[in-house]
Amino acid sequence: MTKLTYIAPDGATFEVEAEDGSTVMENAVRHGVPGIEAECGGACACATCHVYVDEEWMDAVGQPEAMEEDMLDFAYDVRPNSRLSCQIRVREDLDGLVVRVPERQG
Ligand code: FES
Repeated sequence: MTKLTYIAPDGATFEVEAEDGSTVMENAVRHGVPGIEAECGGACACATCHVYVDEEWMDAVGQPEAMEEDMLDFAYDVRPNSRLSCQIRVREDLDGLVVRVPERQG
């Protein structure tokens, strides 16, 4: 299990134990983290699972693939550390990962 922390725009934090191989989006939805809508269910086709990866974790998480980058164009207030959380797979070396939920999706 890998620990993930989500920080809502109002500062509320949600810590979850995530199964490796699941996605950061799936764990947010499963644990009721507000603000992750994930309308397409993880198909990289909606951009409503947008999160900001904590700066310290950007290298470990890595860069988005081309399809995700294209879809990120539709997200609200995109920043250099923006990712679609359905495209981040939980793995052991992401233990402690922190992501922030944007003010709104789309
Ligand atoms: Fe739709 Fe991530 S859930 S793009």
